[in-house]
Amino acid sequence: MKLKTWLGMGAVVLAAFAVNAQEMSDEAIKERIKPVGSVHVAGAAAAAPAGAMSGEDVYNKACVACHAAGVLGAPRVNNAADWAPRLDQGFDTVLSHAINGFNAMPPRGTCASCSDDDIKAAIEYMTSEL
Ligand code: HEC
Repeated sequence: MKLKTWLGMGAVVLAAFAVNAQEMSDEAIKERIKPVGSVHVAGAAAAAPAGAMSGEDVYNKACVACHAAGVLGAPRVNNAADWAPRLDQGFDTVLSHAINGFNAMPPRGTCASCSDDDIKAAIEYMTSEL
């Protein structure tokens, strides 16, 4: 075979590789975009229920044990006589006592995963029907 023919074949093979490589990377990009998109959506969906925990949910999870029956003198849920003197201190004081602890009231009612907003929502629930 002549040298010119070898060179011609080489060029064809190289061209084929180049086209193939281009197709591969397009596919790879599509594949890479797909999982990123679905992870993002899945993450948003998974985060929603945690953020949507209502004051009632927090109360039932972390406060009901003491605040339903008034254990250790805890103000009972939606009991106006129990809550009136406490709310007289101002809501911010009551909230800070619940977050930081106050006598037999443990910090955050021992709910380490509860945010300040969760605690606030739980107090609002416990005082919503006064
Ligand atoms: C282990 C029992 C216990 C748990 C659990 C508990 N509390 Fe209490 N809580 C108490 C007691 C006891 C008091 C009364 C403390 C006092 O006045 O000496 C109290 C008082 C409070 C007060 C009134 C504070 C004030 O300034 O008068 C708030 C608000 C409060 N708790 C919120 C919560 C919230 C919100 C939760 C759940 C996230 C919770 N507590 C869980 C026992 C508990």
